[in-house]
Amino acid sequence: MARATARRTRIDRALALASVVLALVRARCVEGGSHEMHNRWIRRALNLERGASGGKPSAPRVVDVNAARRSAWLAGAAYCKHGIQNWTCAYCVDGPTRLRDVGVFEHKRKRVKAYAGYDGKTKVGVVAFRGTDPSSLYNWVEDLDAMHSTLPTAEVKDGVGRVHSGFHDAYDSVRKELISHMIDMRTKYDRMWRHFEVEVTGHSLGGALSTLVALELEALGFQIKSVTTFGSPRVGDEVFADFWGKKFGDRTMRMTHAHDMVPSLPPRMLGYHHVATEVFQNASGAYIMGDGSGEDPRGSDSEWTHASLADHLVYADLPMCNCNM
Ligand SMILES: *[C@@H]1O[C@H](CO)[C@@H](O)[C@H](O)[C@H]1NC(C)=O
Ligand SMILES: *[C@@H]1O[C@H](CO)[C@@H](O)[C@H](O)[C@H]1NC(C)=O
Repeated sequence: MARATARRTRIDRALALASVVLALVRARCVEGGSHEMHNRWIRRALNLERGASGGKPSAPRVVDVNAARRSAWLAGAAYCKHGIQNWTCAYCVDGPTRLRDVGVFEHKRKRVKAYAGYDGKTKVGVVAFRGTDPSSLYNWVEDLDAMHSTLPTAEVKDGVGRVHSGFHDAYDSVRKELISHMIDMRTKYDRMWRHFEVEVTGHSLGGALSTLVALELEALGFQIKSVTTFGSPRVGDEVFADFWGKKFGDRTMRMTHAHDMVPSLPPRMLGYHHVATEVFQNASGAYIMGDGSGEDPRGSDSEWTHASLADHLVYADLPMCNCNM
C-alpha cells in the first residue's frame, strides 16, 4: 500500500514535470517547442484527489467575464520585469486601463512581487500579486503536494483560523511597504473623491497572497471592492475559509481552469479548505459559478484529474506569464 502510494507519487511527479515543460512551451514562457503536443494522456493517466461536497449554497450570481478579464490583465502585469512603475510594460499598455502612483514591492530571495496603483478611470486602487517565477513553477508545485506540504499552522488573527506558513511568510516579506503605500494612496484619493475602494488580484501563489492582503486591508478599514484570484492554491483551513466566505464570498471570484492542478493543492487531507466563491472555467470555456461552499463539487473538483500546468498558465483566455519585458 505504502509502496504503491510512493510509486504513484513518483509517477505523478514525472507526469507533472512533463506537463509543466509542455505548458511553458505552449505559453511561450520558454523558447522552442514548435510542434503542438497534447497532454490529454497525462490527464487520463492520473486520477488525483477529488473533493467531497461541502454543500453550503449561497445565492447564485452571474459570472462577470469582463471583470475577470480585466483582473487577469492586471494579474499578468505583475509578471512583467520592467515598466510596471511607469505603466509601460507590455501587459500594462495592452491592458484595459492605466494605473498611476504605482509602487512595486519585491522580495528577491523569496521571489515575491506585487504592485499597487490607482486606476483613475474606475477610481479604484489596485493590488496585484505575481505568482512563482515560471522557471521554478514545477518545484513550487512539488512543494505543495501531499508529500511535502505542511499543515496550515500560521495564525492570521485570533479566531480566523490558520493558513499555510509559506504563504504567510511570503506575504510578510512585502506587506509593510505595500500596506504603507496603500495607506498613502487612500489618504490622497479619499481626500480627492471621498471614496477609495480596492480591487485585489493575483495568479497562482499570487492568488494566495491576494487572499491574505485583502483580509489585512479590510481589517485596516479599506473598502474591498473585489478579490479575483486565478489558479490559487488552498490558503488555509476550514475555519479560515468560513471566515473568509462570510466576509468576502460575494465579492470574490476564485477562478479555476479545467485541469489546472494548483487549485487541488495543498490537499484537503492536510486540513486545507478553499475560500468562496469559485468560478470554474471548464475545458470548453464555459464559466460555472460555484455554490459558495469553497469546495464546490461542480467546480475544479469535478475534473477527475488535475494534472495540467498548461491550464494553470491560461486564465480568462489570457496567458498569465507571457510578460518577459
Ligand atoms: C519606464 O521605466 C523603465 C524602467 O523600468 C525605463 O526603462 C523606461 O525608459 C521608462 N519609460 C518612460 C516612458 O519613462
Ligand atoms: C462545460 O460546461 C458547459 C455548460 O455547462 C457544457 O455544455 C460543456 O459540456 C462543458 N464542457 C466540458 C468539457 O465539461
